Amino acid sequence: MAATDLERFSNEEKRNLSLGGHVGFDSLPDQLVSKSVTQGFSFNILCVGETGIGKSTLMNTLFNTTFETEEASHYESAVRLRPRTYDLQESNVHLKLTIVDAVGFGDQINKDESYRPIVEYIDTQFENYLQEELKIRRSLYNYHDTRIHVCLYFITPTGHSLKSLDLVTMKKLDSKVNIIPIIAKADTISKSELHKFKIKIMSELVSNGVQIYQFPTDDEAVAEINSVMNAHLPFAVVGSTEEVKVGNKLVRARQYPWGVVQVENESHCDFVKLREMLIRVNMEDLREQTHTRHYELYRRCKLEEMGFKDTDPDSQPFSLQETYETKRKEFLGELQKKEEEMRQMFVNKVKETEAELKEKERELHEKFEHLKRIHQEEKRKVEEKRRELEEEMNAFNRRKVAVETLQSQSLQATSQQPLKKDKDRKNFFSLPSACSITTGRYVN
Ligand code: GTP
Ligand code: MG
Repeated sequence: MAATDLERFSNEEKRNLSLGGHVGFDSLPDQLVSKSVTQGFSFNILCVGETGIGKSTLMNTLFNTTFETEEASHYESAVRLRPRTYDLQESNVHLKLTIVDAVGFGDQINKDESYRPIVEYIDTQFENYLQEELKIRRSLYNYHDTRIHVCLYFITPTGHSLKSLDLVTMKKLDSKVNIIPIIAKADTISKSELHKFKIKIMSELVSNGVQIYQFPTDDEAVAEINSVMNAHLPFAVVGSTEEVKVGNKLVRARQYPWGVVQVENESHCDFVKLREMLIRVNMEDLREQTHTRHYELYRRCKLEEMGFKDTDPDSQPFSLQETYETKRKEFLGELQKKEEEMRQMFVNKVKETEAELKEKERELHEKFEHLKRIHQEEKRKVEEKRRELEEEMNAFNRRKVAVETLQSQSLQATSQQPLKKDKDRKNFFSLPSACSITTGRYVN
C-alpha cells in the first residue's frame, strides 16, 4: 500500500459494523483470565516499621498462614532489607508472594540514612526489570518480577504525632512505591485517642506533601467502597494468630484480663478493611500502579540520564537510531581521548624510567672510577714496597758475598799458619757477627 493511501486510511473515521452471527471474540476476557491463572501472579509487599511493631504477626494474620519469622535484634548497625518469597495457592490461583522486611529500622542512634537502603532496594528491583526489558532476548513472560507493589508503613501508636523519621522516610518513598500507612497495635490506644491520632496523621502527611496510595475511584464497580475506605486511612490494625473462643466460634483475637480484641471485628479494629483493600479489591491496581506510575518514572529518569529523549531540541521526534549514533560518537570520542591520555602517560613514564636508568649508570661509572683509582694507588704502593725489598735483598746479598770472601781469605791464612793461639781462635768464634754469618741469619 502506498504511503498516501495508508495515511488516508488511518485518518478515516472508524465505522461501526454489525456482525451477521456469533464470531467468538467475546471470549477474549475469558482467554485473558485463563492465561493469567495459568501464568500465576506475583505480589511483593514491603514492611517498614520499627523492630517489634507487629509486622510479622500482621503478615501471618493477613494471609492466614505462618511465614518464617525471625525476630530482629535491636542492635543492627544499619537498616537491612530481607526478602522472602513464598508460593501460595487459593482455589486454582497461584500467588508468588514476596515479603520484604526492613530489618533494624529505627534502631540506629543516627537515623538520617535509615531511608537510604530502602530506596536503594526499590530502585534495584526497578533496575533489574529495566535491564530485562532492554535485553535483545527478553523473557518478561517468566521473569520473576520483584518490584515492590506496596509498602505497608507501620506507625507506632503513640497517640501524639508522626515521628520525623516516619515523615522523612515516607517522603523519600512516595514517588517510588504505593504507601499504605497503618497504625500498628491499635489495641494499645483508646478509641477517642485513635480518632484524633488518625486525623493528626493525615493532616501531617498532607502538610508535608507526602503522597500516600489512594484506592482508585475511577472503576465504577469499586468506586464507592474505595472512596469510603480512603476516608478511613490510616487503618488501625491489630494482628494475632492466636485463636480465642467467642460465643461458640473460634476467632483470631488478642485476649486480655479485661476482654478480647477480635482481629476481624470491624468495631475493634480496621484489619478487615485493610485485608479487603489490599488483597481482595485493589491488589491488581497496586500492581498496575507500580508498573505504570512508579516504574515508568524510574524508567524515564534512567533513560534520560542515559541520554535518550523523545524529541530533539527542535521538538522533532528523536529516533532511537539517532540517539544511538550520537551516543556512539560521543563514546568513541571519549575513548580516543582516553587512549591519547594513556599514550601520553606511557611516553612520560618511559622518559622518567630512562632518566632514572641514566642516573643510575652515571653513579655506577663514578663508583667504578673511584675503585679503579684506589686500586691503582694500592698497586703503586705494593710496587714501591717490592722495589724497597729488592734493594734490601741486593744489599744483603752484597754483604753476604763480602763476608764469605773475607771468611775464605781468613781460612786460607789459617791453613798457612797452623799454629795460632787458642785464645785468638776462641775470640773469633765467640763474635756474634761470625755466628750469624755461618748460619746466614741475623741473631741479636
Ligand atoms: P521484628 O521482625 O523483630 O522487627 O518484629 P515484628 O515487627 O515482626 O513484630 P512481631 O510480629 O514479631 O511482634 C512483636 C510482638 O508484638 C509480639 O509479642 C506480638 O505478639 C506483638 N504484637 C503483634 N501484633 C500486635 C498487636 O496488634 N497488638 C499488640 N498489643 N501486640 C502485638
Ligand atoms: Mg518480624
